[in-house]
Amino acid sequence: MNILTLRRSCVAAIGGFLLAWLVVAAPASAQNPGGSPEAKKVKNPVASSPASIAAGAATYKKYCSFCHGDGAKGDGKFAPKGSMPADLTDATWVRGSTDGEIHAVILKGAAPKFEMKGFEGKMPDTDMWNVVNYLRSIGPANAAKK
Ligand code: HEC
Repeated sequence: MNILTLRRSCVAAIGGFLLAWLVVAAPASAQNPGGSPEAKKVKNPVASSPASIAAGAATYKKYCSFCHGDGAKGDGKFAPKGSMPADLTDATWVRGSTDGEIHAVILKGAAPKFEMKGFEGKMPDTDMWNVVNYLRSIGPANAAKK
């Protein structure tokens, strides 16, 4: 391969990467304030159980607590400066209160600013649902599915 073809394939690779990034970051797939009708329809495939909640707690501690805090009150020490991670124990779900909508935030990130990025491709789907079950277990009873 000479230097010119190398350069061309480099440009193609970068172009492809940018395109993929644009598709992934397209606002249509994001979980915006107000929630989303598609995500609302998604049913939680993992039944809540002590095992699921315990697994969700472990995943939460590893991936979420540094922003949302150990008790999920939105007071994590390492949240990006100026961001305000949500209190996940209160009854307010800005991006929708169903299991499917909470899962969509974990999957796609918190639009529109994406200070929280999605965990798509970084966390098995079952773990995301375990985290949803964990959050349900520590939230107020009246924050349950609508
Ligand atoms: C880098 C910091 C960071 C990490 C890591 C993070 N979050 Fe977030 N999260 C945020 C911020 C900031 C918001 C947006 C708050 C807002 O603007 O309403 C948010 C919003 C949310 C929301 C939406 C709440 C609502 O009312 O709209 C949920 C649900 C959520 N996070 C769950 C999680 C879970 C579960 C994890 C771990 C798998 C996690 N987050 C990891 C920073 C983070």
